Amino acid sequence: MTKAPPSGAADRSPKAPPSGAADHSNSAPPWWRSAVVYQVYIRSFADGDGDGIGDIAGLRSRLPYLAGLGVDALWITPWYLSPMRDGGYDVADFRTIDPSFGTLPDARAAIAEAHRLGLRVLLDLVPNHVSDQHPWFREALAAGPAGSRSAERARFIFRDGRGPAGTEPPNDWRSNFGGSAWTRVTEADGRPGQWYLHLFAPQQPDLDWTNPEVREEFVAIMRFWFELGVDGFRIDVAHGLAKAEGLPDASGVVPPPVAGKRVEHPHWDRDEVHEIYRTWRALADEYEDPKVFVGEAWVHSPERLARYVRADELHTAFNFDFPVTPWQAERMRSSIDATLRTHRAVGAAPTWVLSNHDTVREVSRYARPQGVGPLLKLDDVLALPADPSRGLRRARAAALLMLALPGGAYIYQGEELGLPEVEDLPDDVLRDPGWELSGHTARGRDGCRVPIPWSGPAPPFGFSPPGARVPPWLPQPASWRELTVAAETGDEGSTLELYRRALALRHEHPALGDGELRWLPAPAGALAFAREPGFACIVNVSAGAVAVPPGTRVLIASGPLTARHRVPQDTAVWVAVGAREETPT
Ligand code: NOJ
Repeated sequence: MTKAPPSGAADRSPKAPPSGAADHSNSAPPWWRSAVVYQVYIRSFADGDGDGIGDIAGLRSRLPYLAGLGVDALWITPWYLSPMRDGGYDVADFRTIDPSFGTLPDARAAIAEAHRLGLRVLLDLVPNHVSDQHPWFREALAAGPAGSRSAERARFIFRDGRGPAGTEPPNDWRSNFGGSAWTRVTEADGRPGQWYLHLFAPQQPDLDWTNPEVREEFVAIMRFWFELGVDGFRIDVAHGLAKAEGLPDASGVVPPPVAGKRVEHPHWDRDEVHEIYRTWRALADEYEDPKVFVGEAWVHSPERLARYVRADELHTAFNFDFPVTPWQAERMRSSIDATLRTHRAVGAAPTWVLSNHDTVREVSRYARPQGVGPLLKLDDVLALPADPSRGLRRARAAALLMLALPGGAYIYQGEELGLPEVEDLPDDVLRDPGWELSGHTARGRDGCRVPIPWSGPAPPFGFSPPGARVPPWLPQPASWRELTVAAETGDEGSTLELYRRALALRHEHPALGDGELRWLPAPAGALAFAREPGFACIVNVSAGAVAVPPGTRVLIASGPLTARHRVPQDTAVWVAVGAREETPT
């Protein structure tokens, strides 16, 4: 059954019609090719009921803020029933809201309110695995050992162990959080039994995507939420659903995103996965206002990523080559070129991402020496010297670069405030499963998940309502009093006002969003490109001060220009080309 698009959206943009204002003319490119999507990590966004955990009530109260910021859509991280062993990416029931976040009527109201404000809504679909508390997994456990070939176990990847007594895992695959990717179950009769696969925590058993029942269930889940009005899904671990037949050992094959020659891996980025997305695309296209997917696929190269966004597969995919690229002009330019070239070849719109709830925040990455290695994990950066003000300068310049590039962009909550990673959370508050599963060697991702500071001079900084019973689930640094939404609002030099101005300009300017770019000559260490009509972006990564091109007018700058009206290091500007020349002051 197809469904009419949600109604009542206010029209905020001449270029991208919001929900309820679907443009059916052939000429207008679809909204998602240019969309700026704001990632709501719901547990840390806004707490409506005072239990220290973000929730739907909190999100609803802050929707006007998001509409005012100027984004086009929200991606809400999993809000489904979950034991929260992995921040909700361990789903026990995809059709029920976790009580810590609210209820299904709350979710329905949030979606409708977002639409009324002109914001599209994407949810997070977690198809690779479920929670060990999901009824399917409980049934699978109850079905053994006699039921080792049962329909209940066939939804997952259960195998006998290796060795005479089956005491060795079925293969050498490693969990993403550390240790073996296999756990042995104790059967109902108390004896050690089969092993099940979990590419993540043991509480996240992998589903078997060769099983038609699994496929049908996920189509039904998507339809459930589509009927409730959501505009699409972010696909968790989109590169992991297909496993090599026979489950061969990985034998040291390096998983993505390590750049270099790709060697076929037994469970990451396998060609068989694409057939699943073709069926999903057909489902999305059934709707009058077609639904949309963005894939989370960590792959070796932009070429491999482009395979996920072929015309009959996912609409978009996160471009993680961008955040893993160091703040170095040549490296950035070649990453941008590779992304544009590979996406153009399949007719897809690129996306640009600086960070998310799994990576170190870019302010802290860019504060470190660049080009020394990957800086995505906290443990990558902790040992390196930091220059925080430089990190913020670069992050602000990167924001202008990202928002000027062709395609769509993602903003992770707090990015618009210039929040740094919280690098010194005490051991006893860490909740990332990687902390325990690595034997306390990997500090994990909690430092980018600290609750958002909204207002006031001290924690909880308006994250929880006045008189809240419990402090925020992760402690906020006292220094964040200068980084609250209230403190930054109206301060022309703040990162929040930079994002607001940039997003407003992006909506107004016909050159921005989907389209092409043309590189302009620039000194070594700088990037300059034009977009038509009449726009250019200059990013000074590491050159001496760079001249603003003659015959142009500065629209916005990520930091102060020099006294001679030049762009200093770690600064970006947008200029109107063909406008009245601005004379140096
Ligand atoms: C990717 C999600 O972004 C991450 O937070 C989660 O731990 C894994 N997938 C497993 O679902």
